[in-house]
Amino acid sequence: MTRILFVCLGNICRSPIAEAVFRQHVATLGVSDQYVLDSAGTGAWHIGGPADSRGIAACAEVGIDLNSHRARQVQPSDFMEYDYLIGMDQNNLQTLRGLEPTQCRAKLALMMDFCDVDTGQDIPDPYYGDDAGFDLAIELCQRASAGLHHYCQSRGTGR
Ligand code: 4NP
Repeated sequence: MTRILFVCLGNICRSPIAEAVFRQHVATLGVSDQYVLDSAGTGAWHIGGPADSRGIAACAEVGIDLNSHRARQVQPSDFMEYDYLIGMDQNNLQTLRGLEPTQCRAKLALMMDFCDVDTGQDIPDPYYGDDAGFDLAIELCQRASAGLHHYCQSRGTGR
């Protein structure tokens, strides 16, 4: 079992998309039972709120239902309970590094580091942009998901 927490700033745009796209990817492969998946934001603004309506609409286009998502903030316990905390951009990763306890189970990584091309790139924040930013976030998450699954299969969790 591999536990992955996808992390962005608000937990209403990119990380819910990353979680849902990865969930769809592993469901297609028939390996959903190998994973525990969730997403969270480093910021507190949207706690308890739904995903951005533009993200819900863009996800519906690719057969993903984001309606049940409710935003939450990263918790100290997440660093012990998850195997991987995966940031959508370098800012998310920097914030996570600042919150990381000395005793930390989780490995911190960047989503696009699992993509065969564009390694190390940010998934651009679509919040202040237009609908195209949400389509791009979905596309980038789709491209990174296969690599992330392969990585988890090869590494396991060490549990
Ligand atoms: P996300 O996008 O980090 O991809 O969920 C954002 C959502 C909300 C805000 C910033 C980014 N905000 O400032 O409220």
